[in-house]
Formats: sequence, structure tokens, C-alpha cells
Amino acid sequence: MTILRIPGLVDAHVHLREPGYEHKEDFYSGTAAALAGGVTTVLDMPNTQPPTATPEQLAAKARLAAAKAVCDVGLFVAATNDLADAYLPAATRACGLKIYVSDTFGSLRIDTLDLMHRLFRTWAERARDVGYRSDGQAGGLGPVAVHAEELMLPVCLNLSRLYDAPLHVVHVSRRSEIELIRVAKERGYRVTCEVTPHHLFLTTDDAARLGPLGDMRPRLATPDDQCALWKNLAVIDVFATDHAPHTQAEKALPEPPPGVPGLETMLPLLLTAVADQRLTLDDIIARCCVNPRRIYGLPEQPETWVEVEILEEPIAWRNEEMHTRVGWSPFAGIPLRARVRSVTLRGAPVYADGTLLAQPGSGHVLFHAAG
Ligand code: NCD
Ligand code: ZN
Repeated sequence: MTILRIPGLVDAHVHLREPGYEHKEDFYSGTAAALAGGVTTVLDMPNTQPPTATPEQLAAKARLAAAKAVCDVGLFVAATNDLADAYLPAATRACGLKIYVSDTFGSLRIDTLDLMHRLFRTWAERARDVGYRSDGQAGGLGPVAVHAEELMLPVCLNLSRLYDAPLHVVHVSRRSEIELIRVAKERGYRVTCEVTPHHLFLTTDDAARLGPLGDMRPRLATPDDQCALWKNLAVIDVFATDHAPHTQAEKALPEPPPGVPGLETMLPLLLTAVADQRLTLDDIIARCCVNPRRIYGLPEQPETWVEVEILEEPIAWRNEEMHTRVGWSPFAGIPLRARVRSVTLRGAPVYADGTLLAQPGSGHVLFHAAG
């Protein structure tokens, strides 16, 4: 039996759904799923109900997370058409600013160039006072994280360039996008990007089999797009799940919401790719630990590690063993070559062989005062 010990992972893109959608997930169930997946830090997205768009909403969300989380949690703030940059006084307490310019679940899409211009300008102005965490300014700002597909990507690249604001492009899925980001990096743009496991391991060829359980934004892309992601591995800074749980009943509706859970399957999938010699362990540690910590300026977690078992024979993924409240995965039935055995966070055993050992509230809320 081969057991590997690796650092606790960061998942820089999760939707823990609280407040407003607790029937899908909450800070306890979502962070329990994180630990079961070997993830000890999550960055939570702002498309909750209400969204995280004001200092008060951010503080309320931080209180919920502080009471319930079993791993460390950073919180994004959102720009909305109505509240615009209301979040600004709390900007340093967020892990970053999330801007949606492409359609997805929730109603946070920014509709005008006027507002986009204002958001980049005000974020950069605030950074003039406090700096950026990725530049080593501990009390500074995180990046501007954008959901920008297709033609929206060059819009965001340009605004980031014009204001010299670090841009992080979430869930890149297409050849055109990863190739454009490669050129932008070659030209010295301050841009980083992330790719999800579902875009690395599933394509439009899987879409019919999966139906709504394979529907998310960005949608599954073509095998050619997927090939371009693998070919441009060096351009990909971060693997992040976009863990976006919806119940199976919601997925069976005539208009199912887009999004799939991913926290528990990311590490087993990536380690299966290592067994298949498509990735190295160092590739995973760079993109799931080192790079997200640098991009978001996340604190180190001392005495924190994950033990994973590399399986001689692959085992089909089982929904029954999952901790996410929605209890399903688009990877159900897929043979995987690794499983998470145990997680130790700050010296304390928090997860072992399917059992959660951590107390609610033992996770830290990042960039907020302790407690
Ligand atoms: C996400 C969700 O459900 O919140 N859905 C998705 O398909 N990815 C929203 C998002 O990340 O775009
Ligand atoms: Zn998302």
C-alpha cells in the first residue's frame, strides 16, 4: 500500500451557498466536503442570497463561517449592477473581488463598460493605499477574479492592463482563451488563471451521458479545447473546482441550474492523472497549494497535511460516501486511483477514513480578526 503525505490543498473557487441556499450546502457541509477532498482552505464565491456586496454582508457571512467552518475560509466580495462598488470599505477583508461578465447561476452579471471601468478604477485606487497581497502587502487587496468567457476575456485583460490591477481568470475552458492568456503572459500582463477538474477530465463527449449533471458554466468544451488546456499546462496557475452544488431534484427541473460539486473528487482525479503519467505530484502542489497562496496572499497553515492512498486497483467513485449536502458527482462510477485517507490541520486530526473529526467553528476566516 502506498501512502503519500502532501500539503493541505487550497480550493480557490467554491460556492458554499450560505446565506440563502443552505438546502444545497452550508459552511459546515461544504467545508466537511473540503476536508474529505484533502482541501484545508477554500475561497467562497459571493453569488449567495443576498450576495456578498456590502461590508455588512461580508461581515454577516464571516460570522456564519466562523461558527460553522471546519477548514479555513476566505470570502470574495462581488460587484453588482445595483450596489456597484459598495464593498470597497471592506475590500481588504475579502480574498478578492469577483466580477461576473458572463451568464451563470445568480444575478451578479455586470452589464456595462461604464461599470466595469469604474470597478477596475476604484479597486486600483484602493490598492494605491494598501497595495496588493500578491506583491507581499499583507494588509493589501487580492486580485480581481473574473468569470469572462469568449469576447469578455480581452475586455478584462485590457482593463487589468490599463489599471495595472492583477487579474485572475476563473475556470478557463476554451483553446481560444488559454491561448490568449498565454500571449498576455508573454507580453507581461499581470494575469493568472485557473482551470477546473471537470474541464480537464470531461468534454462535450460526456455531455449527453451526464445530461443536467454535466451542465455548468462555462459548459463542457470540445475535446480540442480540452487538448489545448493540457498542452498549455504551464499557462495554468491554479486548479480549482468551482464546487457549485445543486440538489438532484433541482437538476431534474425543466430548467436546471448550472453547476456541479467538485471538492471531493479533485485530488483523486488529479492523482489518477499522476498514475497515468499525465501530471506530476509537483504539478499538483504548485497549482493547488503554492500558486493560490501566492496569488491570494493566503497565510501558511503550520503542521497541516493530507495523507492519500494510491490504489493498486482503481475504485469507481461512489456518491454514497460524499459529504457535500447534495450527495452526487458527475464523476460517479469513474474509476479513480487514489483516495484521501486523513487530514491534519494545525496539528489536529480533522478527518480520517470517511469520518469528520473537526468541531464546527475550528476553521479560520481569513483576513478577519480571529474568532
Ligand atoms: C455556479 C453556481 O452554481 O453558483 N455555476 C456554475 O455553473 N459554475 C456559478 C459560477 O461559478 O459561474
Ligand atoms: Zn463558480
